[in-house]
Amino acid sequence: MHAPQVPAPAVLRPLVELAPPVLHTELRKGVLGQEDVLRAVSLALYKHITGRVSGHILLMGSSGTGKTTIMGNIQRLYRELPELAPFRAMAITNANMLVDADRLEFRPERLLSAIEQRARSLLGRPATAEELVAVMERATICIDEVDKMATAVGGKTNPVGIVLQQGLLTMMEGSVVTLRTNVLVNGQEQPRTLEVRTGGMMFLCGGAFEGLYDQVYSRVTAPDSGEKTFSQMVRGADGRLRIEARFRLGDYFKMEDLYHYGMVPQFLARFDSVQLMADLDLAVLKEILLFGNDSPLARSRAYFSMLGVRLELDDLAAGLIAEQALKNARAGARSLRTVFTRLIQPLEYDPWNSGLLQPLADGTLQAVITAEYVRLALGLPASAER
Ligand SMILES: Nc1ncnc2c1ncn2[C@@H]1O[C@H](COP(=O)(O)OP(=O)(O)OP(=O)(O)O)[C@@H](O)[C@H]1O
Ligand SMILES: [Mg+2]
Repeated sequence: MHAPQVPAPAVLRPLVELAPPVLHTELRKGVLGQEDVLRAVSLALYKHITGRVSGHILLMGSSGTGKTTIMGNIQRLYRELPELAPFRAMAITNANMLVDADRLEFRPERLLSAIEQRARSLLGRPATAEELVAVMERATICIDEVDKMATAVGGKTNPVGIVLQQGLLTMMEGSVVTLRTNVLVNGQEQPRTLEVRTGGMMFLCGGAFEGLYDQVYSRVTAPDSGEKTFSQMVRGADGRLRIEARFRLGDYFKMEDLYHYGMVPQFLARFDSVQLMADLDLAVLKEILLFGNDSPLARSRAYFSMLGVRLELDDLAAGLIAEQALKNARAGARSLRTVFTRLIQPLEYDPWNSGLLQPLADGTLQAVITAEYVRLALGLPASAER
């Protein structure tokens, strides 16, 4: 007789073993083409979970390059890695949610109640003030769209931005925020005012800072700027090589550029690192389309699988879609969705009469999107130069 098999309890790794490269590997399952930024984020996360001062991070970069995606993936990590469960009190919010625009008041308690909800669901039962505060003080706070809180917008003073930056900089430096809520006192839930210290929280802020590129470009190319500009060889659509001026924000960006953009120096001084998101090139766009968790292909696959159809996208077709998406580089990876939707909608609408469905040996149906199909659907010339 064998003893009944009891599943072994999951062995939790000590937190020090979740080293930055381990966290990096986990994060890049959902964020592609942002290696340098993910390295900085993984290091900050590692410090945070091992009880050091993590240092706050500001993510800057064009729309659709993955800033909000990084925030969502940190949350995923906290949810999926059992070792990180104690850190699940996390909030992702837009900067403008933290201000009462009519009264021009900073409202940190909105952030705190979001964290409180998480802390409560982590604890899973009515909690004492000490238990709640302990979890909340380890929170990770992601504040998105911080570029919308510039001190001036369109040449006009933006009072909301000033209030927000002042409020946030105090919080990030470490302050005490009060929160009125119910907690267990002698086994009974009673209203109390909690004092939550923000010094041990990790802040990750993000913003596209639209217009910054042009602003820095003007500064660098001004006749008396004293900056050296670079050139690079590029191959044109005709296959010929030519020399082109190369301008990458990362080559010239200085903190002062953000001051001119309308960010308060004292606010920026609270960040230990400013990370510039990489622009997504053709190869990364293709990878996001094929392997991104939230890619339009993944969503469409889920839709077809509900209909009992397996959707495949061949490699050439994926390249062609990425190439079309790259033409609208301002939208970053979001333009993949625009292009993909245009070509997949007719198939999603009526796959049965598309002529694309093939029965497989196991009885399921398969639809393969080929480059030919993409060209036809998008009205591209049949022999487009690639
Ligand atoms: N680096 C990336 N890796 C994987 N997916 C990405 C990446 N960048 C963008 N995406 C996909 O593109 C979409 C938009 O990305 P995201 O919301 O992260 O952009 P953003 O940088 O926050 O842009 P914005 O400044 O406009 O808010 C998401 O659906 C996401 O899945
Ligand atoms: Mg975003």
